Amino acid sequence: MKYDFNRIIDRRNTRSYKWDQSEKLFGDKEILPLWVADMDFASPPAVQEAILRRVQSGIYGYSVSGDSYKAAIAGWYRRRHDWEIQEEWISDSPGIVTSLSLSVELFSQPGDQVIVQSPVYYPFYDVIRMNDRKVAVNPLKLEAGRYVMDYAQLEELMAGGAKLLLLCNPHNPGGRVWEREELLRLGELCLRYGVTVISDEIHCDMIMPGHKHIPFASLSPELSDITLTTLAATKTFNLPGLQTSYIVTSSPELKQKFDYKIKTLSLHMSAFFSPEAVEAAYNEGEEWLDELILHINGNAHYAISYLAGHLPQVKPMQLEATYLLWIDCRALGLDADGLKQLMYREAKVAFNEGSVFGLEGQGHLRINLACPRSVLVEALERFTGAAAAYVTR
Ligand SMILES: Cc1ncc(COP(=O)(O)O)c(C=O)c1O
Repeated sequence: MKYDFNRIIDRRNTRSYKWDQSEKLFGDKEILPLWVADMDFASPPAVQEAILRRVQSGIYGYSVSGDSYKAAIAGWYRRRHDWEIQEEWISDSPGIVTSLSLSVELFSQPGDQVIVQSPVYYPFYDVIRMNDRKVAVNPLKLEAGRYVMDYAQLEELMAGGAKLLLLCNPHNPGGRVWEREELLRLGELCLRYGVTVISDEIHCDMIMPGHKHIPFASLSPELSDITLTTLAATKTFNLPGLQTSYIVTSSPELKQKFDYKIKTLSLHMSAFFSPEAVEAAYNEGEEWLDELILHINGNAHYAISYLAGHLPQVKPMQLEATYLLWIDCRALGLDADGLKQLMYREAKVAFNEGSVFGLEGQGHLRINLACPRSVLVEALERFTGAAAAYVTR
């Protein structure tokens, strides 16, 4: 391995959202944070060098992203995901959640139903409710320990008038890589009922060996034209602090509305550091990413077998994508407060508490595996040690 993902980089006192808030959020600064989705790894060297070049220029003026930036994005999806994106389909946005929120505002009306598949990344609910729309939940079903979509219920929601769907592809939490047939079936329903799809594919690059991400918009020209895909290099290359993302849509109508809104809010100016960083990541970060995926996959296997050996009551879901392991802790018999007590007071670890992802997340925890193995080992030891008391009670 060329890159060392087991090196500890001390992130305390770096204004880190994850590492510098344990006391404020959980009441104890010794709590080991494996929650919010950023990684404890340095970005690829080429990205660091690109940012350093920008820092060293000394003048931080208004900037443009340049033609090579969009070419780097298009090249990435062609190479990694067999998806042909035209550069005119791309627009920048400061963040995925920003794009989701603007899309809800643009492509639905106040009071409309917007479909999500629960449990799901919690800002999906926020952007619907805070825009005065209604959340139309299509709970995912568990089949053989994997989440699958409930098409009958989806069709009911669409027939009932829901015209917008927030798709999470791959899915967070749970890490499902939706397969071609599953997405096609979903797509058929969307076409039949005139539903616009906002496909959040931020986790598309973190795909475990043996699985393949299918961009929803790549399924057919018809589906491409009803889809706005939200994407970023930030999850893949650990750049979320750069606050940069983009949307892709082949629909001139969706694109024009999105661009107009971005301009209205004056969010269209290019950020100073991000285009060069994103370009470097896509053009020179591939080998780094391939090694990172092996590290994450190794951490997932380690955690799954550690839990099987030390706390078999807790059931982890097989990780197909993302670096976020979803574990079913219902056998511990704890409600949300009980799980928090176990994590923060007894085990001194912070995972994400599952009910924030929706009703179906109750009794679950989400563990961020993007850390050196030794940090994961420590967290699992703390957690299983403290949880043991509940299974023997
Ligand atoms: C599904 C999903 N979408 C969006 C985001 C965040 O994107 P951004 O920071 O660009 O708003 C995350 C972060 O974990 C995520 O899991």
